[in-house]
Amino acid sequence: MTIDVHPQPSGFGAEITGLDLRTPMDQQTYDEVEAALARHGVIFFRNQPLDEAQQEAFIRWFGPPNALAKQLNNARMKNPYFYDVSNVDENGDIMMEDNERRLYLLANLYWHTDMSMRQPPARVTALNARVLPEIDPPDTEFADMRAAWEALPEARKQELESLRAVHSVYASRAKVGYTNFNDETRKLLPPSEHPLIRLHQASGRKHFYMGAHASHIVGMEEEQGRQLLEELVDFATQPQFRYVHKWQPYDLLVWDDSCTMHRATPYDDTQRRELRWCSARELEPV
Ligand code: OGA
Ligand code: MN
Repeated sequence: MTIDVHPQPSGFGAEITGLDLRTPMDQQTYDEVEAALARHGVIFFRNQPLDEAQQEAFIRWFGPPNALAKQLNNARMKNPYFYDVSNVDENGDIMMEDNERRLYLLANLYWHTDMSMRQPPARVTALNARVLPEIDPPDTEFADMRAAWEALPEARKQELESLRAVHSVYASRAKVGYTNFNDETRKLLPPSEHPLIRLHQASGRKHFYMGAHASHIVGMEEEQGRQLLEELVDFATQPQFRYVHKWQPYDLLVWDDSCTMHRATPYDDTQRRELRWCSARELEPV
């Protein structure tokens, strides 16, 4: 099957039409989708009311999923690879103000890349919208880490190129005041170290790899490293590097976690919002 790719004017972000993902992809279709993702960083498919098995089958084309820490998820999610990105509790009611998962999810408001605390980290995420607020549904914003890197002067690139950053879920959650991790989670999620600048194999382009889980730089005084990361995130997420996704019900939004960052935006959370998240990891440590 031949798909149609409709890129944003900037080339960052593209809609793909011509596919119903309830039917499994074949190799050629996957190759075309992977090529569009490699080129545009973020792709989306409208009107894909997938069940978990269909969404899992989709993501497995891109790599094996990482099992999640149970503590951090909603008991509604039986599939170990799925995260319940919603404001709804185990009983299907809108979460109370003091619900721990609500606090935990607030960290998504910071620019981040999914699962960068893992080794190997996520490579591709797929997020399927089930229920959206009717009034002012929030956008999800993306920033192009390849374009941002390429916009730096050569001398600055050389200063940064060999740095490594430490990533942990404790760093991103500390930003929203969540510290209540149990032993099982601490064991599953030790901090990881990754290069600050990586090479995106499929496009041959280099890019930043950072975000809210990245707390400091290896071999640099912690506060200095934290400030450097903050400065680089501010630089790399300027409006000219962004794609802003306007959600419609049953969108399947798919992004490359290596060469993009993203963030949630605030909304009136007395209205239901329910999305299902799963990701495929890199095959090798990075
Ligand atoms: C995520 C995420 C953003 C949003 O699910 O990984 O960052 O808008 N979500 O919910
Ligand atoms: Mn995310």
